[in-house]
Amino acid sequence: MNYNIAVLEGDGIGPEICAGAVKTLEKVGEKFGHKFNFTYYPIGGSAIDKCGVPLPESTAEGCLKSDAVLLGAVGGYKWDDMPVDKRPEKGLLEIRKAMRLYSNIRPAKLWKNLAKASPLKYELVKDGVEIIIVRELTGGIYFGERKSGLENGVQYASDTEKYDVREIERITEIACRLAMKRSKKLVSVDKANVLESSRLWRKTVHAYCKNNYPEIEVRDVLVDNMAMQIVKNPSQFDVVVTSNLFGDILSDEAAQVTGSIGMLASSSLGDSKCGLYEPIHGSAPDIAGQDTANPIATILAAAMMLRDSLDLNEEYTAVENAVQKFLDCGYRTADIMEDGKIKVGCAEAARLIADMI
Ligand code: IPM
Ligand code: MG
Repeated sequence: MNYNIAVLEGDGIGPEICAGAVKTLEKVGEKFGHKFNFTYYPIGGSAIDKCGVPLPESTAEGCLKSDAVLLGAVGGYKWDDMPVDKRPEKGLLEIRKAMRLYSNIRPAKLWKNLAKASPLKYELVKDGVEIIIVRELTGGIYFGERKSGLENGVQYASDTEKYDVREIERITEIACRLAMKRSKKLVSVDKANVLESSRLWRKTVHAYCKNNYPEIEVRDVLVDNMAMQIVKNPSQFDVVVTSNLFGDILSDEAAQVTGSIGMLASSSLGDSKCGLYEPIHGSAPDIAGQDTANPIATILAAAMMLRDSLDLNEEYTAVENAVQKFLDCGYRTADIMEDGKIKVGCAEAARLIADMI
């Protein structure tokens, strides 16, 4: 089969890690008889430099007509003081919106060889950790009304957290489908003791599950408690559904529990098959261009793309197994390096993983 993949390298380490994922996909193509056509489009800070905006129209169009999108990362010191519409992050938010990618799946998995890389005590992670965070991605405070101005001579600013039932139901559906394939247990995170939007969230999740997935056991956890539970007993969680902002925060926390944010991928999907796949980490401008970044998160994002957008399950497993083999052979990038292991750079790691497919 022939597949058209849009590649948005972005900024910082984006080009290096995307190169690693592209290398992996090319090897998959060779091995399984597929042809991947990669088309590169600018996004983020590099798009601001080239075209004056963080998401050029041609990038959005290119993504919409592709089979799937691979994204590196956006952002960097250079654009930190730009006005809000000229910030690299805006490009990411706009492409999520343009592709209507309302569901963001972020699995935080502790690879067995990396238990020591977790900042938590071994006893807390020895039973394994695999938390699948299902984050709502095109609503809530990220896209609600923003205001700023003067009120009685005092400057103010506000952002709005708003959800409607339809938005909550469709993300609950995604989480339920995942939960049905796993433990049939779903944790829903909110702040219903304070926020009206959270009270609607909670009510809607329960009603939806009761009507459509009665066999799923739903448990509500308040977001502050969730932040604590993730470091206290992370093995208790399986599928977790939450809002855009809470999901942003909790997915970084869960990622760190697994040792390195450099290992975790994410997939963003809407109602069509064309999804966007990216590592959950950022552009790491401090190490950009040094060939020290960990390409595994982006390689695993490419694997999720094979599975979720292209329906290539066997190919997905082949990539996951290659990553496991790479770790089993004792190879490590700088972020997960331990005594006695073999330290490799970004390009070398990608080459080794591709070879192991
Ligand atoms: C993420 C990032 C983005 C977000 C930023 C870069 C806008 O932190 O994908 O988690 O907040 O969604
Ligand atoms: Mg984030």
